[in-house]
Amino acid sequence: MSPLADRYGRRFPYLRLSVIPACNFRCTYCLPHGYHADPHAAGPLSLAEIARLLRGFTELGMHKLRITGGEPSVRHDLAGILRTAAAVPGITKLAMTTNGTLLSRHLREWMDAGLNAINVSVDSLDRAVFARITGHDRLPDILRGVDMALAAGLPVKLNAVLLRDVNDAQLPAWLDYLREHHAGVRFIELMQTGDNLPFFRDHHVRAESLETQLQASGWQLLPRVADAGPAREYRHPDYAGRIGIIAPYSQDFCAGCNRLRVTATGDLRLCLFGEFGIPLRPLLQADEQRDELVRALGGQIGRKEQGHFLHDGRTGITPHLASTGG
Ligand code: GTP
Ligand code: 5AD
Ligand code: SF4
Repeated sequence: MSPLADRYGRRFPYLRLSVIPACNFRCTYCLPHGYHADPHAAGPLSLAEIARLLRGFTELGMHKLRITGGEPSVRHDLAGILRTAAAVPGITKLAMTTNGTLLSRHLREWMDAGLNAINVSVDSLDRAVFARITGHDRLPDILRGVDMALAAGLPVKLNAVLLRDVNDAQLPAWLDYLREHHAGVRFIELMQTGDNLPFFRDHHVRAESLETQLQASGWQLLPRVADAGPAREYRHPDYAGRIGIIAPYSQDFCAGCNRLRVTATGDLRLCLFGEFGIPLRPLLQADEQRDELVRALGGQIGRKEQGHFLHDGRTGITPHLASTGG
């Protein structure tokens, strides 16, 4: 079957699958009070459900899968999830976004299971600032895991959410880091969610001044490549690493959207913001449901909206990005 396009000609080679909403961190912008499980909520998808889901998506042209959370490594069967995904024909890129707390311990196991790229949240290179943002003094071990991943040849990107008056003046430390480290760092504008409004008002900062500083110091914007993610990417001849800027409030952000999301309990989300999930779990109970699943996915993709219109001042109603996988 040929890859499916939506009404705006966009294709969706990239699926972000959250495998658990729980997280062991309490980042100030995401889960400031930590994760609290709803005792009545359904459990996350099983390995068998995940396998059926992924086979359905690959029929529609998905070939890049990102495992997200919450924090994926909170799931004890994470290596099994990776092995399940790696065994699905058609998935060529198997990536994961993690806070890195178990990276140094499990890197080898995850790579052996098929992981071939990793994004790690590192909001600051200053140990005290990192601990203040995440609630955990774990930076040295996380950076050790990052070094191990780089040494093992895994492509690594670090995510730093820009927070006014907290970590928005730390470009020099990042530049020192990037001189030797062959990693990408992405500065992400804080996104407004349904439950971070006061925090958003106090700490949202546009990435534009940072981009101006980069351009003034010789960083060059790379041309956008096919299937690129949401980041505007910069590089500099004197640095091993790259810098990406993710600015979801830019007007044209959604035009290049190439991804769909599925929550840990199997709800399809066509956009990070602005609509509720479409339950797929009932279609994941038997291998014989494959055609029905593929038809349902095709029908839903046809309904995907043009964009989130957050730049028009609309609110994202997603509760926090941990529950949707970011
Ligand atoms: P690559 O596959 O390496 O390009 O990574 P990615 O940017 O798709 O994934 P990652 O999980 O590292 O996400 C980084 C940040 O980008 C997170 O804050 C995400 O919420 C945000 N992000 C990713 N995709 C979208 C999107 O479609 N819309 C919006 N608004 N933000 C997104
Ligand atoms: N705005 C921007 N980025 C966020 N993340 C989580 N919540 C937000 C938010 N409100 C980021 C995390 C992680 C990625 C998956 O999403 O820092 O790197
Ligand atoms: Fe956990 Fe990621 Fe949310 Fe931080 S941003 S609390 S690491 S899910």
